[in-house]
Amino acid sequence: MEYDPLDPATMQCPFPGYARLRAEAPVYFAESVGAYIVTRHDLLSEVLRDPGTYSSRRGRSLQPLSGADREDLIAAQSEGYPRLATLLTADPPQHTRFRRLVSKAFSPPAIAAREPLVRGIATRLIDSWFEASPIEFVEQFAVPLPLEVIAGALNVPDDRLEDFKRWSDDTVVGFGNQPTMAQILAAERGVNDLQHYFAGELAARRVLPQDDLLTALLDARIDDDDPEIADRRELDVPEVLSIIQQLLVGGNETTTKMLTEMVRRLAEDPDLWRRVKNDPSLIPSVVEEAIRFASPVQAIWRVAARDTDLGGVAIPKGSRLVVSFGSANRDEVVFADADDFQPDRANLHEHLGFGRGVHFCIGASLARMEGRVALEELTARLASLSPADTNDFTYHDSFMLRGLLKLDLHIVPA
Ligand code: HEM
Repeated sequence: MEYDPLDPATMQCPFPGYARLRAEAPVYFAESVGAYIVTRHDLLSEVLRDPGTYSSRRGRSLQPLSGADREDLIAAQSEGYPRLATLLTADPPQHTRFRRLVSKAFSPPAIAAREPLVRGIATRLIDSWFEASPIEFVEQFAVPLPLEVIAGALNVPDDRLEDFKRWSDDTVVGFGNQPTMAQILAAERGVNDLQHYFAGELAARRVLPQDDLLTALLDARIDDDDPEIADRRELDVPEVLSIIQQLLVGGNETTTKMLTEMVRRLAEDPDLWRRVKNDPSLIPSVVEEAIRFASPVQAIWRVAARDTDLGGVAIPKGSRLVVSFGSANRDEVVFADADDFQPDRANLHEHLGFGRGVHFCIGASLARMEGRVALEELTARLASLSPADTNDFTYHDSFMLRGLLKLDLHIVPA
């Protein structure tokens, strides 16, 4: 069979293609991306459980750059700080050390403490809609909510929010699509700007500490809770910058896409909307099903650290793999009627939308809380919502990040 994840029609709707791959070739070498695409739920679990074999240390672009392009890239990057691997792109044991430091900021009490802030942003955004209907949900809710939440955690002032969003967009250039060299270089310059902004903020906090994540990262000592390891030191600036960049992108784009798909489903299903409105205890299940159904992170890279075998396919050392969460979450062996949005499914939590294993999404509790609060406030403040006929339901052109570009909604206040 033939499958090209970069095909524009496939990016718009990858699900029939995933179903064929799961049935006919669940570990499939796709020429266009030079990687094995893994699509079955059980095979994904095997990969995600074994970071020793399936490494997360990978490059950012789809195909290796030619000599001249590589030199341009190095020149653009040299104007910023070194791009280091810390969380998403690191393997144990380095990954474990960084993860431990950052986990503290995402503990259940830390997330609970953020809830009033999230609710305040959600209510302000919804209240601003009542002047005109239809509204555009992506721009008027799904982008600003997570953006302001993560900006709040990093103490970014309101007048830098636009830059902050631009830097987040720059960070995902090339995730699951093929940008031009000009786009790659422009994005690298954006990442440099992000680095210089936060390096300045870190320097300021060394003089005047604040009650925020930046100060916490400066105060952290790597391995400081492990007496066996002598290497107890401060994080250096490129390490802190790498962590910040991953929180920025991890916290924004994904949550935006989850919120939008969840609200699309509710807008298209008035019965479900009424059920949720009448019984808010359903909300956490709707959020969980939205993460399965939307799978905003459709796929992520791994690299084979040794020769191995996956589902009967020999994978040589150095091969790249695309681990397809979007497909595993529609695997009919695990999820009955997998293409239907069913918050009542008994095995809701078996989805892999947040990954599994050592890289399991560090922001999962935050994303769930944002989804829950958003839906609590939407159902409390709106009598109904429905899709406007201006929608064409176009998705972002990427096989790794999936979400609607816009969602026009008619709303009726409660
Ligand atoms: C619905 C929203 C979200 C989805 C669907 C999502 C999805 C994922 C997935 C699939 C992974 C695993 C990647 C892998 O195995 O290589 C991951 C990791 C990660 N996520 Fe999320 N995420 C979401 C929200 C967030 C938020 C709100 C944050 C931070 C504020 C965040 C930060 C991260 C970070 C830093 C990692 C890397 C963790 C590690 O490597 O140890 N994510 N996320």
